[in-house]
Amino acid sequence: MNDIGRPPLNSVPYRVSNPEQIPVQRYYDEEFYKLECERLWPRVWQMACRLEEIPEVGCWVEYKILDKSVIVVRTKSGVKAFHNVCRHRGVKLAIGGRGECEAQGFTCPFHGWRWNIDGKNTFVLTPQIFSEESLQAAEIDLKPCRVEFWGGSAFINFDDNASPLLECLGPVAERLSARNLEECKIEWWRSTILPTNWKLAMEAFMEGYHTLRTHPQLMTAFGPEWTRPSGMAGGPKASTPAQEFLERTISYMACLSEGMQGEIHPSEVEVAKTLLDMELPEDQSQWNDAFQTRLKDEIYQRGLAKGVPVRDMKAVDEKYPFSYVEFLFPHFFLLPVYSAFAAYRIRPLGPESCMFELFSFTLRAPDEEYVPVTGPTFLAYDSKEYPQVPMQDYYNLPLQQEGLHSGGFEYMRLSRDEEGRISNYQRLIDGFLGGVDQEKLTKGYQIASGAFNTPIVDIGF
Ligand code: FES
Ligand SMILES: [Fe+2]
Repeated sequence: MNDIGRPPLNSVPYRVSNPEQIPVQRYYDEEFYKLECERLWPRVWQMACRLEEIPEVGCWVEYKILDKSVIVVRTKSGVKAFHNVCRHRGVKLAIGGRGECEAQGFTCPFHGWRWNIDGKNTFVLTPQIFSEESLQAAEIDLKPCRVEFWGGSAFINFDDNASPLLECLGPVAERLSARNLEECKIEWWRSTILPTNWKLAMEAFMEGYHTLRTHPQLMTAFGPEWTRPSGMAGGPKASTPAQEFLERTISYMACLSEGMQGEIHPSEVEVAKTLLDMELPEDQSQWNDAFQTRLKDEIYQRGLAKGVPVRDMKAVDEKYPFSYVEFLFPHFFLLPVYSAFAAYRIRPLGPESCMFELFSFTLRAPDEEYVPVTGPTFLAYDSKEYPQVPMQDYYNLPLQQEGLHSGGFEYMRLSRDEEGRISNYQRLIDGFLGGVDQEKLTKGYQIASGAFNTPIVDIGF
């Protein structure tokens, strides 16, 4: 789009003009939602699938966003993506969410046209009834969709002019890759539909400020005197004996691990338990560092001994800043602690409805048997089968969506210092809706992605 064709930024309805205030209409207004559908989603990199979902040549999955559908398929020459539509009369081609192509590739159920997995048309019934022009290869081969890869996932983008994926993700990609996200595999995967706007659902994971009230068990496990105002576990007080420090630290780990059914893998809690009698330095301010360093080393050494492709987490933490939650604009989260990750992916289904997926990613030894997880298990958002932490988060969200409609609420009131991630990515959305140029959007993309509990910053426009 040239400058002349661009809508000005200040034409965006309900634009964020004060970075500490997010207008409430952005979470339910039909017109605003329509603008997101038209100007945001067609232009951003979207995590479409994990590569372990398609282990063999011919395996494919469907990625759906709004009314669009993309096939991501493994071919002999790599993973490719195509728009999921027959080029004769528009029937959806790959049906059922995922599958494995037979030798003949994809066959349209209507008139039986066929394509191989490279998207090349291989069969048209009675071609002589069509004009030659209609059957040119460029006309009938499947239309490719842009796809790039990072961290063991395929990301698609409908915009051929968008900056490359890694340029958009920026520094967050490098620091998560250092933990070997690439070789992780899905251990479990659940999906739900939340009666909330997609952005609202995401924002509950952009700050730790809610932990104290929403996840009190995480605080109790550590004890109130061990917490910082941001709600995350902090260092010990001078009067705390070493043994108590170790017990509490490990019970906090166990509590998070159980509450997330991952993030900290149960096997890592077991390793931590073997350190209950470890010797700590005299200086209590060094206890946490000493324990974490030893634990990371133990997990690393034990992993290596079993052939698990675990990375030296101590070295990674020395090189890169650590955050419990990392956001990848526009809709993917990764939560690393030691060698495993929890992950979230959120997709809009309407102005006040979204699909929320939870994943656990873990590393395995190459000789350990892995049965690919074939799609998410669907659970209602209020199901008691969720692990405790997501259950607590899901409890708040529908109430929040309801609250937004109450009279007397005009905007989200953000903490300048700890809820900045929310403001930063919301203003980047305005950049997409308001026609900010590509270069600035790419820089903004990098700023909007990253750690939680961060301040409001200048995103460049
Ligand atoms: S619509 Fe697909 S073959 Fe006719
Ligand atoms: Fe939470």
